[in-house]
Amino acid sequence: MRDSSVGVGGTGGSCDSRRWAVEVMGCPRCGGALAGLRASKSCDSLGRTCDEPGMRMPRWAVEVLSCPRCGGALAGLGTTAAVVRCRTCGPFPVLGGVPVLVPEPARWCATFYDAALSALAEAGSVTSEAVETLRAFADAAPGADAARFSDDWTSAEATGARTPALTRGPASDALDELLEVAAHQSPALWLQHRAPEGVVLEVGCGAGLTASRLASRRRSLLVGDTSLRAVLNTSKHSRAVGVVLDAQALPVRARSLDGLVAENVIDLLDDPEAFFTAAARALDAAGTLLVSSPAPGLQDPDEDDAALARLAQRCGFTVKDRADGLPWLRQNSSRFLEVWLVQALALSPGNPPVTRASGRARRQR
Ligand SMILES: C[S@@+](CC[C@H](N)C(=O)[O-])C[C@H]1O[C@@H](n2cnc3c(N)ncnc32)[C@H](O)[C@@H]1O
Ligand SMILES: [Zn+2]
Repeated sequence: MRDSSVGVGGTGGSCDSRRWAVEVMGCPRCGGALAGLRASKSCDSLGRTCDEPGMRMPRWAVEVLSCPRCGGALAGLGTTAAVVRCRTCGPFPVLGGVPVLVPEPARWCATFYDAALSALAEAGSVTSEAVETLRAFADAAPGADAARFSDDWTSAEATGARTPALTRGPASDALDELLEVAAHQSPALWLQHRAPEGVVLEVGCGAGLTASRLASRRRSLLVGDTSLRAVLNTSKHSRAVGVVLDAQALPVRARSLDGLVAENVIDLLDDPEAFFTAAARALDAAGTLLVSSPAPGLQDPDEDDAALARLAQRCGFTVKDRADGLPWLRQNSSRFLEVWLVQALALSPGNPPVTRASGRARRQR
């Protein structure tokens, strides 16, 4: 017998036990179907791979993710619960199956209330449980200014669709050559080729193009962004495990990552140093941090293009590999092409490993 006391999005019950309610409910005025009214999606339909029945995320991800404030364990993570809870810092919401692991979850919910609702609706994940959870957190941070997510994707980036052909004219030959070079020398490819195997987190994932390239059987991929829309979009297309996060307070356990990727996001942060400090804590000693930026002076008029590498080194990183002037093209329409020249760094935390040659040289001194 069905448990008719379970409402749409109510706690408990499997996804299927709630779907009947979606089928029963209709518009109170005309009786018609209600678009966007859905039961919580099963883990498969959210694009996550689950290794245990009833779990929303694989065991490895549950073991890696932690409280963004104290680094402690999160009870309820990976289950269908509407919140996860740090014993010391309190609850964090889970929206559309995505944990919102930012240091101030109430402020995030109040600031992005409308933006989060729209993102959930677009993903078909609006449930009364999600709305109630969002509302309850937002109510705890009165007075926050509303903001949108900073999703500035071109339509091709958002959908993976082919970019429209550029309008032909006197610049066509030069632009064709530029497009050809950019296809083979983009910052995304540079980062992808240097990404390690194992547990990798991409922060500031945006529309998710790089995450789709990073997805591989040899990688356990986490994707994070302050934008819930970005996380929902990316995890759907890449089958990565998604989390809303702040790159300046990474919600992962110390030494839990083999790789951390931050493509074109570091110059947008209020405190890039906090990101490097969090990255140094999160990465395994043999791990790799991959960063790229179209503004390696970090938006500081007093800094030059070496500022990014200098900051990384101050935070204990060693530059393993670097490139500059990599073309990042964003085609907005058949007449509007953005061209950014990007700097990319591959960094290792701590001191460089002692190679045989350098070890010998040191002993001889
Ligand atoms: C310019 S987009 C880059 C997207 C993608 N990495 C790329 O290169 O196409 C910057 C992304 O960083 C995200 N972002 C900005 N501040 C962030 C923060 N503090 N923590 C995590 N993500 C952030 C934005 O929401 C946005 O999706
Ligand atoms: Zn905590």
